[in-house]
Amino acid sequence: QTRLLPKAFGAGYKVVITAGPTVEDLDPVRFISNNSSGKMGYAIAQAAAAFGAEVTLISGPVNLDAPKGVRRIDVKSAVQMLHAVEDYIKSADIFIGCAAVADFRAETISPVKIKKSEEADTLTIKLVKNPDIVATVGKLESNRPFTVGFAAETNNLHDFARAKLEKKHLDMIVLNDVSNKAIGFNSDDNEVTVFDKDGQIAHFEKQPKPVIAQYLMELIFKSAKKKNS
Ligand code: CTP
Ligand code: CA
Repeated sequence: QTRLLPKAFGAGYKVVITAGPTVEDLDPVRFISNNSSGKMGYAIAQAAAAFGAEVTLISGPVNLDAPKGVRRIDVKSAVQMLHAVEDYIKSADIFIGCAAVADFRAETISPVKIKKSEEADTLTIKLVKNPDIVATVGKLESNRPFTVGFAAETNNLHDFARAKLEKKHLDMIVLNDVSNKAIGFNSDDNEVTVFDKDGQIAHFEKQPKPVIAQYLMELIFKSAKKKNS
């Protein structure tokens, strides 16, 4: 588990990471959200910081403490997460989108608790698409950092992951098989396959998320360039 890498392998890199779910309010007491513990994103932040990088972790609501030496920015919704990313992205060398961003939010958040009515047996809430945060970064025309996304898939794993890499203009994508109950979401372990535009570049067998995070950061630091060097 100890890696034979120089301790300051990531020194001089500025890394921005999103992690955890986003929470989209429907009314003062209800919300829609995604299944995400934040463990993978926090492990990546910890690994990047341990390699000497300057790390900003933009986090949705999770039950985890910020890793030592990491600047943590707390957000709730996808729109807030995008704004926080925009605040830090211009000087970043690397962006890693680990967050399970809710794909939709309510078109309008009710300021008062939504009431059941006696007449209607159904309730319709209009949802609108959230901004795609990692694609926004991937498509930046200036100051674009090395951009890494995750793909959580249950089927057609490789095809869907590679399609996301292309569509979101990513440099690298990390594929998670979320149909496999032994890994992902709340699990302490993960098993991932990594692609760049030329195809599969790595596969890491089921291991604790902190170990997977070290391997991923090693790959990312080897591929990314620093803006100021
Ligand atoms: N992502 C994002 N902003 C969104 C949705 C997703 O930044 N609004 C990022 C995630 O953080 C992840 C990648 O995009 O790095 C892939 O997320 P995923 O949910 O697998 O892909 P989607 O494009 O949302 O497609 P779908 O859920 O339909 O499979
Ligand atoms: Ca999604």
